[in-house]
Amino acid sequence: MPLPGLQWVRERSVGTKLLILILPVIAGFILALEWYFAWHRDMARVEESVTQQAQMVATQIMADRTYYATVIVPRLAQSGVEVTDRYHEIPGAIPLPVTFLREVSETTRGGHKHYTADLLSPWPINKNQGIRDPFQQESFAYLSQHRDGVFSRIEVVNGQRTLRFMKGDFASAQVCVDCHNAHPGSPKHDFQLNDLMGGMEIQIPIEPWLVKVRRDEGMLLIWGAGVCFLLIGVIWYGVHRVVTKPLSVLTRLMKQLLAGSAGLQPASRPGKAAAPELRDEVKSLWKAFAEMEQIIKRQHGELQWTNVKLKEQVAERTALLQRTLHEWLKAEQGSPALIQAAPLPIILTHPDGRIDTINGPALQGFGYDAATVLGQPITLLIAEADWHRAVTQLWQDCASHAPVAVQLQGLRKGGKRFLLETALSVVGDHDDPRLLLTMPDLHEMRPVA
Ligand code: HEC
Repeated sequence: MPLPGLQWVRERSVGTKLLILILPVIAGFILALEWYFAWHRDMARVEESVTQQAQMVATQIMADRTYYATVIVPRLAQSGVEVTDRYHEIPGAIPLPVTFLREVSETTRGGHKHYTADLLSPWPINKNQGIRDPFQQESFAYLSQHRDGVFSRIEVVNGQRTLRFMKGDFASAQVCVDCHNAHPGSPKHDFQLNDLMGGMEIQIPIEPWLVKVRRDEGMLLIWGAGVCFLLIGVIWYGVHRVVTKPLSVLTRLMKQLLAGSAGLQPASRPGKAAAPELRDEVKSLWKAFAEMEQIIKRQHGELQWTNVKLKEQVAERTALLQRTLHEWLKAEQGSPALIQAAPLPIILTHPDGRIDTINGPALQGFGYDAATVLGQPITLLIAEADWHRAVTQLWQDCASHAPVAVQLQGLRKGGKRFLLETALSVVGDHDDPRLLLTMPDLHEMRPVA
């Protein structure tokens, strides 16, 4: 069973078919172009600039901590102020640099719009700052190998595409090592100077940036669609000019021709309703050609048949004419004037066969002129054996006075032989008889095989 959609396509014009074929290719091409070049490029740009931002944020935060740790803490410590992560439990105490940093970062965590910063470690004193997910695990594995490197990638966090960025935090001073190694909450007690102690993770949602990228993509899509439409227009116009128009002219001419021979169209299937107008020019032209061919074949057959019929009729008429003429000439005693005026070939000979009178059609038929044949034996024109047989038969049937119908072989000048249906009879006086030979039209004679 044919698909209905396929049927629909089949009935379309050549131009539409071309477009149906080409359109997915163009659309696919433009989408692929957009994906590979535009989207990838834009995403790479977004990632690059957001990473830069994260780098800046991390540097700033670390600098704040260093300043707090190297300037503020020592001064206050000198005047006996306790520095501890449990500062809120102890009156007069101030937070540790890392506690200061963590708590400042926590205040920025309110909305998802901005960045968040978090100091983490695989060996945390504060158990909330331990490793929580694969990104953190991978980043610490990476940072332990690459001291000055950073680890970052884009992940979906809380439903938002987010850049995650990790920068290493190293034991830059002996105090870091001493305090951590000595701290009862620390799971690791063998830190050394410059060891990796943890890392600063910055998360920046990139959705706001993507909005712009998407807008650019949208513009590109519109541009692509524009190019598509332009191409479609060009293709449609081209096909129309090159294919549709000339074909439709041809088809129209063909249909006019068909309409002209409408009278000769009994072959169109009677039960079938008229076929719907085909939109496909090539198909309809082909159909018109097929119909035309049928008509021409039929006409050819009819013509041949008519031709055969006509030939038969002509032959019959000629035979009739020949018979009538023969009777008449016989009645007129073979009058030379009448013989000369007759439309069929006629020869009058002496009883011994010498040609006495020969008319124009006969001369023409045998290819001679009168001077050459007059007085010559008729065997110049008729095969000798045939002539003798005919004459013998004539004398035998003499009593009946009816003409003898005989088939003779005619000899055309140049040697060509042909078959002749002739009538032969005796005319004229008893003392001076003549033999009258009438023949059908010599143009129609069959040559002897
Ligand atoms: C006086 C002790 C002390 C000193 C000095 C110190 N830390 Fe800490 N550090 C702590 C405590 C206590 C915490 C947990 C504090 C919190 O979460 O509020 C901590 C937390 C951290 C964390 C977060 C992960 C965790 O273990 O909770 C990192 C990373 C860290 N310190 C690195 C350093 C570095 C690097 C230095 C040196 C520049 C340093 N610390 C100096 C005591 C100290």
